[in-house]
Amino acid sequence: MQIESTKKINSISDLPKITSLVLPKEFELLPKTSEVFELEFAFYEYKFLTKDEIIRKGAFFKSVDEIPTYHYIICSNNSSLIWEGRSEITKSYFKEGNFSTGYATHGLFPYRGKFHPQLIKGILNILGVQPGDVVLDPMCGSGTLNVEASIIGIDSIGIEKSPFCVLMSKVKYEALKTDSATLSLIIGDMDKNYKALINSKKLLAEFSYHNGFQPEKAITLLAFLDAMGYARRCSKSIDVLFPSVLKRYVGQINSFIQARDKLNLKISNASFEIGDARNLTLADNSIDAIITSPPYSFAIDYAENDRPQLEYLGYNISDLKDEMIGLKGRTRKEKLANYFDDMNKVLAEMHRVLKISKYAVVIIGSNDIQTGGIRLETKVEDMALKHGFVLDQKIVKPIKGIQNKMKDEYILFLRKV
Ligand SMILES: C[S@@+](CC[C@H](N)C(=O)[O-])C[C@H]1O[C@@H](n2cnc3c(N)ncnc32)[C@H](O)[C@@H]1O
Repeated sequence: MQIESTKKINSISDLPKITSLVLPKEFELLPKTSEVFELEFAFYEYKFLTKDEIIRKGAFFKSVDEIPTYHYIICSNNSSLIWEGRSEITKSYFKEGNFSTGYATHGLFPYRGKFHPQLIKGILNILGVQPGDVVLDPMCGSGTLNVEASIIGIDSIGIEKSPFCVLMSKVKYEALKTDSATLSLIIGDMDKNYKALINSKKLLAEFSYHNGFQPEKAITLLAFLDAMGYARRCSKSIDVLFPSVLKRYVGQINSFIQARDKLNLKISNASFEIGDARNLTLADNSIDAIITSPPYSFAIDYAENDRPQLEYLGYNISDLKDEMIGLKGRTRKEKLANYFDDMNKVLAEMHRVLKISKYAVVIIGSNDIQTGGIRLETKVEDMALKHGFVLDQKIVKPIKGIQNKMKDEYILFLRKV
């Protein structure tokens, strides 16, 4: 295995591709893997995993020795239902993110501020997490870590303050385990279920996961809540949007379960809980890895964003806001003081529940225009060190789309010592 770095460069025609300097040629990267952080992750996977492991769980490779990776197969299997009724612009937007964000069940609800799923798989790989280990996200949002961990055979726990997020995470996870008969039932009962959901909230209990999880009901409920939020943002009515959202959900789930069965993947366990990251109900030294992304101070009001869904489900937004990190306080100064006070408690809890010498990975960016120049990642880093973590690595990842507000986020690898 020869990497081209030793070749002499005499002319432009000898210039090597940057990837050929870091990877042998039998390792083919996924299409459009070009950002520096992606190449860093690909290189770490190449260093830490065997060829067979890269094929089974690598996140940045298309093939090794011309054998396609599972990630490539999962991302490439797209059912036609996903594209039904979608404009060319929407199609190309989603196809762009095919290998990084738009696969498995990640696309079921467009949760703002969610993890980049491919990156999470890469982090799990370089942390060396193994089957039998338990990973935790104490602010799990839409359950991205849990979905990724389950696909590669790792057990996980997701904790979240927002009950709507817990529902969403649970649906995204349970949908990984569903079957084609359930998907047919969802389409067959679409009209009947829509009438029930639009007319009577009393039926909600039947659709929610609290009374034992019924995948067909819970997936339909999430699609209904998605269409409801979408209808408020655009000029179309929920009657029109609901069938297309539900069919897209079924298409996405179907694409994944086909790949799952072809690859004989066993989806591992994930449990979810409505809880508080500042006060975890988990034993000391019980967790093998934490990967989490806290609110970036008050950059996003998560309760307000999900107001229609939370209200439909019967939750009181102002009670929720009192418990949510980043949302308390009137002035900027007060909000920031509350935020750092809360984050200090979260870091103390993360340190307590993590096993010694294991990693807590925190992904955080700074909305420094809103914070008046205060950098969240440096404050979090300082607090983490005081709680007994050491910072082993810090990777910078650019944030696309909101460059005027926030340019980068930081991936902090904190080890408990
Ligand atoms: C950046 S988002 C996490 C997104 C998540 N990584 C994903 O992939 O969907 C931060 C989350 O922290 C949650 N949160 C806020 N305060 C919390 C608290 N006290 N305990 C647990 N979760 C909280 C918010 O509801 C929000 O979903």
